[in-house]
Parts: sequence; structure tokens; C-alpha cells
Amino acid sequence: MIFKRILVVIFVLTAIPNGFVSVIYCQNDDSAIEEKINDLLGQMTLEEKVMQMNQRVYGTNANPNNIDLLEKEVEPEIGSLLYRSTSPIYRNQIQRKAVEDTRLGIPIIFGFDIIHGYRTIFPIPLAQACSWNTSLVQKASAIAAKESWLSGLDWTFSPMIDVARDPRWGRVSEGYGEDPYVNSEFCVATVNGYQGEKLSDKFTIAACLKHYVGYSLSEGGRDYVYSDVSSQTLWETFLPPYEAGIKAGAATVMSGFNDLSGIPVTANYYTLTEILKNRWKHDGFVISDWGSIRNLVDQGVAKDRKEAGYKAIMAGVEMDMVDDVYVENLPALVEEGKVPMEVIDEAVRRILRVKFQLGLFDQPYVDVVEETDRYLRPEYIAVAKNLAAESMVLLKNENDVLPIKPGMKNIAMIGPMLKDSVHIMGSWDGMGRSNDTESLYEGMLNEFGKIANLRYELGCDFDGNDTSGFKQAREISKNSDIVLLFLGEKKNWSGENASRASIALPEIQEQLVEILHKTGKPVVLILSSGRPLELIRLNKMADAIIEIWQPGTAGGSALAEILSGKINPSGKLAITFPQTTGQIPMHYNQRKSARPGIGHYQDIPVGPLFGFGHGLSYTDFDYGEITLSKEKIKKDEQLIAEITVGNNGSYDGKEAVLWFVADPIASISRPAKELKFFEKKQIQKGEEMIYKFVIEPMRDLSYVDGDGKRYLEAGDFYLEVGDKKVHFELID
Ligand code: BGC
Repeated sequence: MIFKRILVVIFVLTAIPNGFVSVIYCQNDDSAIEEKINDLLGQMTLEEKVMQMNQRVYGTNANPNNIDLLEKEVEPEIGSLLYRSTSPIYRNQIQRKAVEDTRLGIPIIFGFDIIHGYRTIFPIPLAQACSWNTSLVQKASAIAAKESWLSGLDWTFSPMIDVARDPRWGRVSEGYGEDPYVNSEFCVATVNGYQGEKLSDKFTIAACLKHYVGYSLSEGGRDYVYSDVSSQTLWETFLPPYEAGIKAGAATVMSGFNDLSGIPVTANYYTLTEILKNRWKHDGFVISDWGSIRNLVDQGVAKDRKEAGYKAIMAGVEMDMVDDVYVENLPALVEEGKVPMEVIDEAVRRILRVKFQLGLFDQPYVDVVEETDRYLRPEYIAVAKNLAAESMVLLKNENDVLPIKPGMKNIAMIGPMLKDSVHIMGSWDGMGRSNDTESLYEGMLNEFGKIANLRYELGCDFDGNDTSGFKQAREISKNSDIVLLFLGEKKNWSGENASRASIALPEIQEQLVEILHKTGKPVVLILSSGRPLELIRLNKMADAIIEIWQPGTAGGSALAEILSGKINPSGKLAITFPQTTGQIPMHYNQRKSARPGIGHYQDIPVGPLFGFGHGLSYTDFDYGEITLSKEKIKKDEQLIAEITVGNNGSYDGKEAVLWFVADPIASISRPAKELKFFEKKQIQKGEEMIYKFVIEPMRDLSYVDGDGKRYLEAGDFYLEVGDKKVHFELID
């Protein structure tokens, strides 16, 4: 299609000191984006181009890991700002300088880390995955986009889709767990929530897939160190969520801190250009992680910042996050003939494309509305509460101790998490405020305050060795019908640069459980954490355990209503809880062993404590047999599988059905089984629902090799749902 070009360029012939003629690029122009980009590029000087490739910080540093904050005066020619203010007014003022006071009037793109909400804080992404409810997560992401757009933002550095199998790594909290398919599905939901129907619409922001790629396999779960990822694992496990996000239209990608076989991902041509741009045809841009270009020197692949800049740009990183390496070095590298001008043009083209797609040239400013209309609206809180409730996982419920029975009038509430409203927001809590966050205590008061006798004692702090509160905690527990223990991790125990050598709770918290268990009263553990925990000892002492993760703004009432039975828990684990830290890595989709069943650790049981997909309900869901439309299918045919799930208990509830495929024999050793589809539905008590999975052989039965080539081999397969399993055959 040939677009008619209606370029209205106003030449303002003013002599300016550097000898350029100032050209204002008029915004009221409807020619096709590519033509606009070419037109602009034709007018840009090398310096202007390089400025577009740079991001600086505006505002105070909220990330303690990034201490070398650059709070320079904003230069209006800058390509992007990492905007750490909530003010749409400042944003518009800064933007006005860019649009009106610069030669070409190119708008700035304002970015920020909106990871699980902006002011309304949703549960951490790991928790979101445990909800198995992608449409709710899409809604939450759209709310986060709206709140942040109205605060002056165009772009978030989210979702993080690093498949994470080592819970010692603090950043497990930021992604969607151990499975590539789950990460892909939640990635798509999140991207769709942020980016909406059209990026240029109001209230939408550009997504950024991060940290491309393999970061989560950093050795031993230590942050920022190298990751040894085989090419097979790269393609099988780490790349699929990125491919899904690119297909969903994610505008940008962030390169990570790790290396792949010795080549840091910020200097990796294979992943950044060969895969992302050439094979997947991503037409947006890649931003480095914070300082990851200069880190190439630390990683020992560049002798200085100049060489680091050279390697990053030649590999395919278009924007430099806060380093100023590009600004300092790219002009010289071009003049010396080392970096071709076409490489710079292509990088700028990609950045401008996203700015055009966002509609920034047509509408560079955001609306300024009252804070009460902007944030924490009742409908946002309702989504936050639903998502928190659906993401909480009932791990154990001996003798149906939960929900709390009406006869249990005396409830002891013990533990450092109860009255907290800081840690339950989790890391990367945007612009969330603890004052806006309902504590678990407030939730309990609202739900039980009028019907039960609630008594509280701290018991102990999160860590340390002050046991002076134990006595009183034991006293009130002894005189109660049930003991609720609110334990867990502080928010800065997970997230970036927050790895832990042990995933057990500090000893003092375990001691408190032991003491209260000895009272003989039913003990319910309510655990808030950013990672799976080592529960091997606590499990023996607790009658019920509920993992609430870091549930955000509305977690208090979500939990209280689960405890009272008003809400039936429906979360299931998207990440394995190993027996002990020493059992890591442990994930359900490990490849098959040479000697199945033996060779495990002698000192602990073989399996995990709570496996992937585990999560209890207050009702009984009974699974029928899996039925198949055929027992043999050809490679180009579909197979329709169905299973009926009945709710035979006494509560209405939601049940997520997870469909796994196992490929017992193939040319390469395949994972024991792989999740291929999931669906969550509401089933009223006494009723049943049919769940259906349409198997597409190429999508669901094939595998990739270590360079992304896909193979579909005939043979036997198994489909597994819960404890049901059925065989089928793929024929040529
Ligand atoms: C983190 C990124 C984040 C960036 C900007 C880095 O240290 O690794 O995930 O987006 O900082 O805050």
C-alpha cells in the first residue's frame, strides 16, 4: 500500500550557534510511520541520533541497587527518561521542552518499573501465576498502565519472564515461576493489559520483556553472576516466553546482566539480532539493563567503556540505560568507521518507531487529573483483592481445620507479619504506599472482629534472637480455640540483589512455631514470602498452611475471607516447594533420569514437599476419565481431549485444570512431562464442568533443538491431568 505523504514541515530559518538550521517537525501529519521515521532520520545529526539512544534518570533513586544515580539537568534532546516522579505536570513540562525547544521536537519516552502495580499494588508476579487466571492478570496490568500513564509514564520495564527454578535467587518473585508455558501465558496477558488494543490509545503503556535471556539461571541463585545455559535449555526453556511476548506485540526488550557461554547477553549478537530481530522480526527496540553496557568491562569482554559501547551496539542493543556510554563513545566510533552509520540509523529507527506507535508525536502530553481519580479507585482495589485471593495457595489443611468454624470463638493471632503493611507489598512495589495497604490484621478485624474474640501477640520479630515474646504468645494460644501464625519474609529478602543461601525462615520464626505447636491447639501457618520456602520442619507442626505470597494493597481482606470460608481458595503452585534448600534445583519438568527412582539424596524424601500445581480447596473436585476424539492422529490433525470435573463438596469454588503432555521416547531426552494448557473455571457445589484441550501436534507435541529447529516425531504420547493419564499415538 502506498501511503500518501502529507508532510508539513515548517522550516524556521533561524541561525543557531552550531550552524544548523532549526527544523520543527510538525506533529499533525498522517503519513505512514515508516515514512515519518525516514523523514526525521534524514534531518538528524549524529549527535541527535545518539541522544535518542540514551536514557537518563529523573527523580530520586528508588532502587537501592542502582546507587550511581545521574540526576543531571534534563537535556530535552534525550531519548528517554527513567521517570521516578508521580507528577504528570513535571512530565508534561519536561516533554514540552523536548517538543517545543529542540530542533526536531522529538518527544521523550518516560519509563519506570511498574512490576505489579503502580499505586494499587497487586500480588507479586510469582503469586499472580499461582492464580492461573490470565484474564484477571490482564485486568490488573491494564489498571497499572492507567495509573502510571496518568502519572506521566509511557513505558514499563515489565513483564519479567525469566523462567526461574532456583528459589535462592531473589528475583523468582518477579516472574511467573518454573514453567515456560506459564511464563508465556502470563507474559501475553500482561503485555495485552499494558499495551491495550492500540499503543497509541490513552492509558496504555509499552511493555518491556526482560531480562533477555537466561538471567534466572545465574549460578547458585546468586544475583548478577554468570549463567551456564546449554543451547538446548536456552531454546526449550528460556526463549519460549520471549517469543510469545514478541508475538503478542511487546514493544521493547531489555537485555540482562548474565552471559551465555561466555558472551554477555548485552553483547550477544546471536540472541539480540539473529533470534530477536532476524528470526522473530521484532521491530521495536532493546534497552540495556541498568549499567549492563559498562558491565561488559567487569565481565571481561571489553577493555574499556568505548569497546563496551561498540560491542553492545553491534550486537543489537539500541538504548543505553543510564550509562552514558553511547553518548560518550558512539560519535567517535562512527567517525573512526568502526560503527557504520546504518547501524545507528537502524537503532534510532527502532526507537522512533515505538515513539510513533505510542502516539507521542501526536499527543506528547498526558492528562492531568486529581489524584483521587487517578489511583486506588474502588474498582482497582476489587481487582487487587480478587487477584490476591486467587493467588493464595492452601498447601495443607489437616482435618479441614480451615475455614475457621463458627464455634471457634477465641482466635489467637501471633507473628510479625500480622500488623505489617510494608512487607506484604513485596519488592518493586512501584509507587505503592504502606498507608494505602490493608494489613492482614485489618482484614482480620473486619471479617472476624464482631463474631470472634481476637487476641494478638507479636511473638517475635522476623529475625534476630529475642525470644521474650514467646511466653505471652504461648499464654494466649493456650487459651484459644485456634492459633493463626503470621510469618514470612521481609520484602527486601527477595527481589533484585536479594539472594539467600537458605530458603528456610529464620530460626526464631521456626522456634515460635514449635512452641505454639506444643500447646496442642490447631496451628495455622500464614506465610508471606517472595519465594518458595523450606517447610520440611514446619509442615510437621502445622495443621494448615497457606502461602499468601506478597499480596499487595488488598491482601488483608482476601486472606481473612479465605480464613472465614467466604472465599474458597483456588491458587495452585506455579513453582515447586522443595523439601530443603539442598534439593534445589527441583522442578516438575526435569529431564528423565538414567536410573529412575534412585540416586536421590539419602537424607530427605525423593520428591518435593509441595509440587508444581499443588493447591487445595475447601470443596472436593472429582476428576472423571480423560476422553479423546481419537487414539491415533496424523501430524496435521487436531486431537480433542475432554475431562469432566465435578464439585462434590460443600463449597462453590474455582478449579484450574492443568494439561500435561509426556513424550516417552524421542530423538533427544525430553522432560518427564510438560504443561501445554490450563484453564480455570468456577464450579458450583453439586455441579460439574467439562474442560477441553484441543491438541495441535506441531504446537503441543514437537520439540526444538539447540538452534530453534522444530521437530515433530511420530510415536507414543501421554496426556495427564491430575492423577488421570491416557495414551495416544502420533502417526506419519
Ligand atoms: C534491574 C531491572 C530494572 C532496572 C531499572 C535494574 O537493576 O535489573 O530489572 O528494570 O534496574 O530500574
